[in-house]
Amino acid sequence: MPKLQIITSNNGKIKEFKEIFGDSKYLPVQNNIDYPEIQASSLEEVVDFGLSWLREKIEPPFVIDDSGVFIDNFDGFPGVYTRYVYDTIGLAGVLRQMEGVDNRACTFRCVLGLLTESGERQKFVGECSGTLINELRGDGGFGYDPIFIPEGFDKTFAELASEEKNSISHRGKAMRKLIDFLLQ
Ligand code: IMP
Repeated sequence: MPKLQIITSNNGKIKEFKEIFGDSKYLPVQNNIDYPEIQASSLEEVVDFGLSWLREKIEPPFVIDDSGVFIDNFDGFPGVYTRYVYDTIGLAGVLRQMEGVDNRACTFRCVLGLLTESGERQKFVGECSGTLINELRGDGGFGYDPIFIPEGFDKTFAELASEEKNSISHRGKAMRKLIDFLLQ
C-alpha cells in the first residue's frame, strides 16, 4: 500500500486522517517534523509557505493541514490565529470573549496542501459552519470540538461519534477531495 506522509504533531488530526483514509489505497503515516507557520492573512498562504519549506527537507509525497475557526461576530477572528488563541487563552478564554455575544455563528475551514511525488502542488479546502455554545460539552475530538455545534445538529463535535464528525467536518470534506485527486 503506498504511504502518504501527513506532516503534523497533532494526534487528533492524524486519527481523523487514518479514519477517513480508511480502506482507500493509501496509508497515512505521521511525520511530526516541525515547520514554520508564518503569520499570514489566509490559511492558504500558511500552507503554501509550509509546502515550500518542507520540499527542501523531506521527500514527497506529503500533506500538511492548516485549519481554523472563523467567528462571524469578530469578522473572522481568530482564523489564522486559531491555534495561538487556543494555546494562550484556551477554550475558557474564548467563552469569556463570547459572553453576551448573540451572534454565535462561525465556520471551521481546513486547507490541505499536497506535494505529489512529481513535485506538483495541490490544495483542497473544506468548510463546516455552525455555532459556538457557551459551555464545554463532550469529550471526543480535540481543540475547539467541545464548544462547536455543526449546522443541523444539536450535539457538539466532541459529543458526536468520530464517523459522524468526519462525515460533515471541514477536514472530512477537504480529505475526500484529496482522496478523489489521489485516486484519479
Ligand atoms: P493548526 O491547523 O494546527 O494550526 O490548528 C489550528 C487550531 O484549530 C488548533 O488550535 C486546533 O486545535 C484547532 N482545530 C483544528 N481542527 C479542528 C477540529 O477539527 N476541531 C476542533 N478544533 C480544531
